Amino acid sequence: MYKSRISGLGHFLPPNVVSNNDLSKLMDTSDKWIQERTGIQNRRWVDPENIISSSQMGFRAALTAIESSGIDKSDIDHILFATISPDHYFPGNGVLVQDLLGLDTIGATDIRNACSGFIYALSVANAYIQTGQYENILVIGSELQSPVLDKSTNGRDLSVIFGDGAGAAIVSRGNNESEIFSTHLHSEGRNALELSMKGPSAIHWIDKQDPTKVSPEIFAPQMNGTVVFKNAVVRFEQVILEALNKNGMTPEDINCLIPHQANLRISQFIQKKLRLRDDQIFNNIQNYGNTTGASIPIALSEAFQNNKIRRGDIVCLAAFGAGFTWGSALLKF
Ligand code: UT7
Repeated sequence: MYKSRISGLGHFLPPNVVSNNDLSKLMDTSDKWIQERTGIQNRRWVDPENIISSSQMGFRAALTAIESSGIDKSDIDHILFATISPDHYFPGNGVLVQDLLGLDTIGATDIRNACSGFIYALSVANAYIQTGQYENILVIGSELQSPVLDKSTNGRDLSVIFGDGAGAAIVSRGNNESEIFSTHLHSEGRNALELSMKGPSAIHWIDKQDPTKVSPEIFAPQMNGTVVFKNAVVRFEQVILEALNKNGMTPEDINCLIPHQANLRISQFIQKKLRLRDDQIFNNIQNYGNTTGASIPIALSEAFQNNKIRRGDIVCLAAFGAGFTWGSALLKF
């Protein structure tokens, strides 16, 4: 069995910064409420007059990741694209990036596991590399969420949290210096509707004969924030410990935990439970909000860029979100 490793990273954030004070002009909210409950100060929302789609953001992140890995783009054997905000109902974003990169007819797979999407994609990439089927896989997490958020007071619990952006990694056949040790995936579908967007889907569609039949709420995300929060703190801790136990490590061995950026309070809760020092965890939700499937690759790429993680560090990635789905990956970076 081969080993796999992350050989390159990149991210792309749309330039349009939206502050908490900007939001308080659109809805009944405040900088104080948002910062106290979520830790978020700013997020990036694509300029509605100049939309950059999730495939285009993913493409831009991919270009940086390819450059950082030092491979030629023609060496990429497969594309895995994690998103819940694709350009089209079908086909998926992976094929759009295959075309944008001008690659040969390599396979492209889309993954729809929301906040855990990047961990799921990384796990698939790891397995493909381990079996020897592929040598270099482009893994992207990218989300364009701002257009579907309800920006009225009605939707304030969700719209203040979510942001747009993309991150990408090249997962390559490993060497002795760095390797993905293990990945761990879980789901619990009985909570599917606690965090969901029902439509558009085959059973939640606009009735062309009578468009008034459809309630607009089904085309906006819905979340039972308290239930999600309570489950998140438990599952994050469990799945991080699962990865550490599997590899005979303890929280002390982690150089950097990069949790999915759901809410700064969730990250701080996990940090406290695992007794991690401030230098053992990386958060950037303050600047970008919750970018769902893009949050881990953006944070990973930014942490690398800012020397918060270095080659050889033990890095743990962990996510929890819609599904519910959750997962972790432990690696020597
Ligand atoms: O990434 C996917 C996973 N997602 C998550 O992990 C998110 C998990 N959940 C959360 O992060 C939190 O539940 C929220 C940040 C969404 C909400 O925080 P909370 O502390 O659970 O607040 P709440 O929903 O209990 O609401 C408290 C109050 C309510 O008012 P009343 O009923 O007490 O008068 C809300 O109406 O805050 C009100 N509220 C707001 N006020 C100002 C809700 N949203 C806002 C807002 N601005 N944006």
